Amino acid sequence: MANMKQKIDPANILSLYLSHDAAATYIDKDDKIKVLEYERFVKQRYGAFTHTMSNREGLGTTDEQRRDFLQYIKDSVKGDIKTIVINDPNLHDGPLIQEYFPNVEFKIASHHDAHAASGAYTSELNDAILLSFDGGGYDDGSNVCFTRTYLYKDNKIQRLNDYNFSLGIPYGHLAKCIKEIKAGPDCEDHSLVYSGKIMGLCGYGNIREEWIQPMFNYYTQGNSLSILSKEINLTLELNSIEGQDAYDLAATSQYVFEQSGFAIINDLIKSDLSLNVILVGGCALNVLFNQKMAHTLKEAGGTLFVPPYPNDCGLSLGQFLLYTKIKEKLSPYMGFDILDRDKFDDYKKEYKATKCSVSQLVDHIKDGKIIGILQGESEIGPRALGNRSIICDPSIKDMKDILNSKVKFREWYRPFAPVCRLEDSNTYFDDVFESDFMSYAPEVKKEYRDVLPSIAHIDGTARLQTVSKGGHKLFYNILKELKERNEIPVILNTSFNIKGAPILTTIEDALYVLDNTEMDFVYIEGFIFKKKI
Ligand SMILES: [Fe+2]
Repeated sequence: MANMKQKIDPANILSLYLSHDAAATYIDKDDKIKVLEYERFVKQRYGAFTHTMSNREGLGTTDEQRRDFLQYIKDSVKGDIKTIVINDPNLHDGPLIQEYFPNVEFKIASHHDAHAASGAYTSELNDAILLSFDGGGYDDGSNVCFTRTYLYKDNKIQRLNDYNFSLGIPYGHLAKCIKEIKAGPDCEDHSLVYSGKIMGLCGYGNIREEWIQPMFNYYTQGNSLSILSKEINLTLELNSIEGQDAYDLAATSQYVFEQSGFAIINDLIKSDLSLNVILVGGCALNVLFNQKMAHTLKEAGGTLFVPPYPNDCGLSLGQFLLYTKIKEKLSPYMGFDILDRDKFDDYKKEYKATKCSVSQLVDHIKDGKIIGILQGESEIGPRALGNRSIICDPSIKDMKDILNSKVKFREWYRPFAPVCRLEDSNTYFDDVFESDFMSYAPEVKKEYRDVLPSIAHIDGTARLQTVSKGGHKLFYNILKELKERNEIPVILNTSFNIKGAPILTTIEDALYVLDNTEMDFVYIEGFIFKKKI
């Protein structure tokens, strides 16, 4: 169990999560906790380090990339690495890793224990019920667990109940039947991109009463898609449905997903263990569920916490915290620094970049410009939170379509997220919870939905990022300037990446997007870059 792990000096420990969403966590030479997501390093979304542990095509990387990653870590760790915590009980990559870190002791971490630690030890809560739910992961041995609850108390994490069903697999699996949803590079059957995309379609659908019970059976009884297909009289095969049937399927699935999650939590809340809840695992990226859970807990006098990396990209950090027992509210900006920072001056000359104040940046935003932001260390987790972001004015009518079709190259139905200062948020959104990490989806107030069309989803919700005074400085200052100009202090924020690739982390890639899309400017640490041609 998580609380039985022996405490190890943080400087002597390296944590490696090696399946898809691989990452490394350690203390660097500046005494900071670093979380390096492998996908950013190899520019392969969801990149897997271990070939043998991922059965998904298209996520594997070359031996040279694996070696470069290990060398990068070796060059930046603070201390003498004596212990490596790893998720693979069979140590497939043990010999390769030992070439870079000889004489280490390997320790194995359970998938859900690591998820739990990534939430519990980085929250400000002293007690909470934890729900870890995803597509499943290994315990220390070969046992696969899909859904598990924990009690966090006295700085210890204690397992409560295991459930023999996954809420993540059935949720994402339905997406393959929907024509409007395209798979990622990994696989067509259970692509990792499916869950986020089908969540975007929910708002277009209606819950169909007669589909609810069959959908519950599909989720919790292990019924196959073909059984569900017969029970709801809809052909559920690859790309077999589109339009309203597809949207209603997504909406009914979302409803059953939420009800199943609530059923687990409600049982535990009633037992008086705690009124607080921490959600981890990939399913905790479901902001529609999170919003409802936060609302319910608030009414009951409790609090919800969702870390910025609830999915597998937070597992190397979770493994690290399991063994180091560090309990700290962590900034999400723990990732890679700009990897080609040494060429910054050369790029400034090449592009004739000029200094740019916050006020000038706001001028560009109000002129309708689309601006890529690249600064400092990357945020970890799937959400861009201001250091690798694309921003623009959400009050411009066609901005969602322009971004989707000419900058982001993604499906029409996918919504964009707003950013607002915490102190202004209740003016524009209903039922707001502090959301530094875009964890919730409050509704845009009815009177502002037409005024902010690019961030108000079809169902009125928005995946809001709130910024507090001590939080993201650039975002806070932009929003403050907008407010002082009597403009609506809300900006649109989406992740900065090359089409199909993970969030970028080089100046070279940022300028590639500038030169090859309809993006207008790139802003890098106080300098504005215009298109070269
Ligand atoms: Fe997971």
